This record gives sequence, C-alpha cells and structure tokens, in this order.
Amino acid sequence: SGFLPQLRNGLIKLGVPTEILEFLSKWNNAGEEQLAIPLAKGAISAIRSQAFFIPLYELYLTYGGIFRLTFGPKSFLIVSDPSIAKRILRENSKAYSKGILAEILEFVMGKGLIPADGEIWRVRRRAIVPALHQKYVAAMISLFGQATDRLCEKLDAAASDGEDVEMESLFSRLTLDIIGKALFNYDFDSLTNDTGIVEAVYTVLREAEDRSVAPIPVWNIPIWKDISPRQRKVTVALKLINDTLNNLIAICKRMVEQEELQFHEEYMNDQDPSILHFLLASGDDVSSKQLRDDLMTMLIAGHETSAAVLTWTFYLLSKEPSVMSKLQNEVDSVIGDRFPTIDDMKKLKYTTRVINESLRLYPQPPVLIRRSLEDDVLGKYPIKKDEDIFISLWNLHRCPNHWVDAEKFNPERWPLDGPNPNETNQNFSYLPFGGGPRKCIGDMFALFETVVAVAMLVRRFNFQIALGAPPVEMTTGATIHTTEGLKMTVTRRTKPPIIPKLEMPALKVDGDSSITKQQSP
Ligand code: HEM
Repeated sequence: SGFLPQLRNGLIKLGVPTEILEFLSKWNNAGEEQLAIPLAKGAISAIRSQAFFIPLYELYLTYGGIFRLTFGPKSFLIVSDPSIAKRILRENSKAYSKGILAEILEFVMGKGLIPADGEIWRVRRRAIVPALHQKYVAAMISLFGQATDRLCEKLDAAASDGEDVEMESLFSRLTLDIIGKALFNYDFDSLTNDTGIVEAVYTVLREAEDRSVAPIPVWNIPIWKDISPRQRKVTVALKLINDTLNNLIAICKRMVEQEELQFHEEYMNDQDPSILHFLLASGDDVSSKQLRDDLMTMLIAGHETSAAVLTWTFYLLSKEPSVMSKLQNEVDSVIGDRFPTIDDMKKLKYTTRVINESLRLYPQPPVLIRRSLEDDVLGKYPIKKDEDIFISLWNLHRCPNHWVDAEKFNPERWPLDGPNPNETNQNFSYLPFGGGPRKCIGDMFALFETVVAVAMLVRRFNFQIALGAPPVEMTTGATIHTTEGLKMTVTRRTKPPIIPKLEMPALKVDGDSSITKQQSP
C-alpha cells in the first residue's frame, strides 16, 4: 500500500499532469472493486417458505462468511463471519445504523433505544443504562421468584388435573408480568387474567412481527390505516397502551415528588424499584414522547426474548434427559425449597451453562440488522454506503468449523469454573446479546431471570413433550417461535429427602488450597 503514494509523489515530481494521475488512481480503484462479494442466486423462493434464517444457513455453507442475496431490486449482505461481525458491531460501529429495523419498528418504538441512531441513541443510552445498576438487578431476583412461583401454582393445578400445558404462551405471560413490574411497577397479572391491556400488548407485538416478515409495507399506504380492520385494531391497541403508560408515569411522578430520597448513583426506591422510577428521579421529562418510546421499546425487548429463551430451553431439555437430571441435581443442592437469591446466581453454574447453550442454539433474535452509513471494507471486500446487512447469529452460533458437534445441546462445552461465555471471550463467534456499543443493556437481567425461572420450575416438576403434541417447528418474527406451541406434560417431582446442607469450616491442608469446602451430595 505504501508503493502507490510513493509512485504518485514520484510522478508529480517528474511533472506528470494531474489528469493523468487521477486517471491512474481511478484505474487502481477499479482494480480493487473487482473483488466482488459472492452472489447467492435463485434462493428467493426458498426464503419465503420457512423461517428465513434456515435457508440462509444453507447458503452460508455454500457461499461463505459474507455473500449477497438479491430480491428483485433489493439486495442484502448476509454476514456469518466473526471478524466481519466484530468490525460492524464494535470496531467500526459508527459507520452503521439500524436501517430497515428502525423503519419497521417506528410505529411502536418510535425513536426508542433499539431503533434510535446517532445523537438520540447516545443521549438515551447514557440516561437508561445507569438504571440497571447492580442493586436494581439484585432486587429483581425476588420479583423473578414471585412471578415464577405463580407459574408453578398454575402448573401444579395442571399436574393435578392431568392436563397438558402449552408452555410457550405461559412463558410469554411470565416474562410479560416480570417486565411490567421491572419497568414501570405495573402488574399485568397476565398469568391469571386476560385484561384488555394484555391483549393490546399482544396485538402490537404480533403486528411488529408480521411487519418484519411482510414483503410489501402495506401499512405505509395512507388510507390503509383507516380502512383495514386490522390496522384499526393496532391503532386502538397502541392508544390503550399509551394511555396506560401516561397514567403510570403520572402515578410515578407523584411518588417521586413525595419521597425524601436524594438521587444518587445506585438510587432505588424500595417500594418501587422500577426503571421508570429511576428515570423520573434522575430528571427525565414526564411529558416527553421519548420516555414513552423507550419504555415501549424495553417492554418489547425484555418480554419476547426471555420468553423465547425459556421456550427453547425447555424444548432442548426435553430432548436431553441427562442434561435435565444434572440440572435438577444442581438446583436441588443449591436452592432446595427456598426462593433463589442473588448469591445463588454464582452457585447455579450448570443452570447458567444451560441458558448459555440454549442461547447458542436459539439466539433471540436470530439475525441482527444494520445499514452502512459510509463506505467500508468487510473482510477483503469493499462495500458502499446504504447496504442493508443481516448478521446471522444463527450461522455464527452453529458454524460447523468452529463448534464441536455444533448441533448438539451440550452445556458442558464451557467448563463450569471458566468465565461465562460472551462475545469478547468467544471473539464474536458467540454473541447472544450482540456486541459493541449497541450491546443489550438487559443481559444480566435476562440471564438471572431465565436462570431463576428454570431453576424453580425444574426443582418442582418434570417436563415431557405431550403425547400426540404437534411437532415442534420454528417460525420467526423478531424472535424464534414454535409454529404450533410447545405442548408439554408436567408432573410433580417426587421430592428426594432434603439433606441439610453441611457448611463445613474451611479445611486447611498444608500445601493444598483446593480442598476448601465439603459439599453435600
Ligand atoms: C439489544 C438480546 C433481554 C433491552 C439487544 C441485542 C440483542 C439482545 C442481541 C442487540 C441488538 C442489535 O445489536 O441489533 C436479548 C436477549 C434477551 C434480552 C437474548 C433475553 C434473553 C433484554 C431485556 C431488556 C433488553 C430484559 C430490558 C431491560 C435491550 C435494549 C437494547 C437491546 C434497550 C438496545 C440497546 C442499544 O441499542 O443501545 N438485546 N435481550 N433486552 N436489548 Fe436485549
């Protein structure tokens, strides 16, 4: 690369006219552009028929870590290479926006933290991230426990009646109940009730998902909103959610005004530890549309993702009884019959690996969406501004060259005493929460939420795919859903005798520090 500028300088000194120099440099650039990104052909029909990330996996095996896919006039770059993913998400993240994603989600998230770009994103990220401080996440553990306990009661009743249960919708309700309390101290109570507001949330969610897979954006046609019954229903649902949010914001504002508590770094109101409370106390404007957009964004981000993780974790567990029994052993010995605490999160190591591994096989969402804001070089290929890019977490997480037995649900692939796998220590081959500046802000929240739920559920019940249940197949909106639900037979576990845990004093053996504590079996 040093050669060409040198040549140019040499030619200038020799008095070669600039026209000729420019011609030479264009010719040189044209030479670079001959490195064309592989083009996947004839794949369009395959894409429509099933969850779209499945054919992308086949194409990845044929065309490699970056290839172009065209649909008529539209074209996408599909990225499945860890170093290119790292370039886009971390090293040169400034050069990329959320692109199509922001366009699709605008009707519900507005300029909320997920779709927002540029200055709005920067300001809001800085305002919101501090709300999820350590003390907050620790306080959430008991909320996770209480909500899961309500689900346990429901399952207990089903077990008594010998009725099979559809777990996917129950998980969706569990995580909705949790995120409502966690975000704005509101009890949707969707595990027990089907109120209008719960239905409104689902109407909006389904619409967001349908839009993200719809080939033609009919909702952009101005009169469509007024004549389509479905769009009218969406408008009504959005209004109900917004009115509810306004009401919650007003209630919270009054609480903030009456409290004596000074705002500080780990500020938290014990009666109402919600993120909304933190934001209002920190000085967020009650009347702003931005606050509503951010709450709505987090409601959706923190609801469907965690529900999908639980759904696929239980599906995977039902296929691997040996993992299930190891998991149950750990949970029995660590939490027994009590509610999990923050200290247990460190001890539930195998449970954590089960979630890590479930997130590898079923990443939520399975692809990340970006658009280039300027020219860049991806791998060895120069790309232009305005390219729409899909980064396939599905492909990265199942790459047959990178993972041993990539398709196998094997929580043991990460040693229990090693670090929790993340995008940094796995060098972007594993990035269930994304990476770089746009990384998920709810990663610890979500990890603890799913660990608590799994631990409490497998402690009390055994789960099997119900006899005669429909086959468990995938479909996508924003996250991976089943096509026909996850129908399971839930049975109470016959409790093993509870062995009181002996906390032995640390054994001091000369020259051997590895024997420190005696664990009960
Ligand atoms: C972003 C996954 C739970 C809030 C992301 C991203 C991923 C992700 C992959 C990056 C998106 C991208 O780069 O395009 C997950 C998974 C979850 C989960 C798998 C559950 C298991 C949550 C929860 C919250 C949350 C509970 C809220 C408290 C957000 C927000 C962003 C985000 C606000 C956008 C951050 C930004 O752009 O600055 N999440 N998430 N997520 N997540 Fe999560």
